[in-house]
Amino acid sequence: MAFPGTGKIWMNGALVDWKDANVHIASHVIHYGSAVFEGARCYATPKGSACFRLDAHMRRLRESARIYRMEYTLDLDGWMTAVLETIRANQMKACYIRPIVYRGYAALGVNPFPNPVDAAILLWDWGTYLGKDALEAGVDVKVSTWARMAPNTLPAMAKSAANYANSALIKMEAITDGYTEGIALDVFGNVSEGSGQNIFVVRDGAVLTPPIASSILGGITRDSIMTLARDLGFTVSEAVLPREALYTADEVFVVGTAAEVTPIRSVDRITVGNGRRGPVTEALQRAFFDVINGEVPDSHGWLTYVYPEEAPLRAEARAAAARP
Ligand SMILES: Cc1ncc(COP(=O)(O)O)c(C=O)c1O
Repeated sequence: MAFPGTGKIWMNGALVDWKDANVHIASHVIHYGSAVFEGARCYATPKGSACFRLDAHMRRLRESARIYRMEYTLDLDGWMTAVLETIRANQMKACYIRPIVYRGYAALGVNPFPNPVDAAILLWDWGTYLGKDALEAGVDVKVSTWARMAPNTLPAMAKSAANYANSALIKMEAITDGYTEGIALDVFGNVSEGSGQNIFVVRDGAVLTPPIASSILGGITRDSIMTLARDLGFTVSEAVLPREALYTADEVFVVGTAAEVTPIRSVDRITVGNGRRGPVTEALQRAFFDVINGEVPDSHGWLTYVYPEEAPLRAEARAAAARP
């Protein structure tokens, strides 16, 4: 099998061997893209394995499912428990986490309602998404000829499988044209986001990112970076950004669960800043990695530890955080 896989997959509450976790070819999701999903990460911190903002990811999953009228039977706690149990069952220390809710097998036709709402949780190892050197050297991107979805067509706020047809067009074009990633504009010509990342620009020390209404996915890394940037004293704004803001910025970087915080060194072959990772990007990268590596107190409560035997460490950390 090309995909090495991980031991067990959670499917509707049962733990199934990776090789047996199949759906029928007549499942609605295969024909009509009727799935919503999440992508989160568990990190091996010195204090134990910890999921980053698992609650926010599971909340977004439930919201995506709500938009598509395919609510699953689990509440927020139920989802978090299912993810943690799947990680424990696979004895993973660090992993990428992919919960998915999809329309299963009953009837084919555009109407999804006759089909069951099924769910699964997959885990696998996923290293640096945009390449090993990218975190320091940055990557070259192009503005895509493909726009993101127009308002009231496909909901950009939902992390739905269907939206990734658009992402795949953006990514394929970028790769074919010799770039690492594509940045899409919205249908009004303003900057939206990468095929799988949100984007930030830095200008005169201020940190700017497109608002939710610029056809972006409301990224959890984006939200975390805005919070960390404010913690560090930067001015942070959501701003509608014209394409040329990318060419004139001091720094540009993209963020996401897979890409983490990756600098952009050129846009359409126009060098960003001095063509290297800028100081604001570096400071935010460091702040982000310090949190996910458990090297600073978890002051925002973003880490959920996985293994009960590591719980005493968690209690210790809580007590330390509470000390004046
Ligand atoms: C289209 C798109 N935008 C933004 C993001 C970043 O979101 P997050 O930080 O929640 O991973 C992703 C991540 O998967 C994405 O696919």
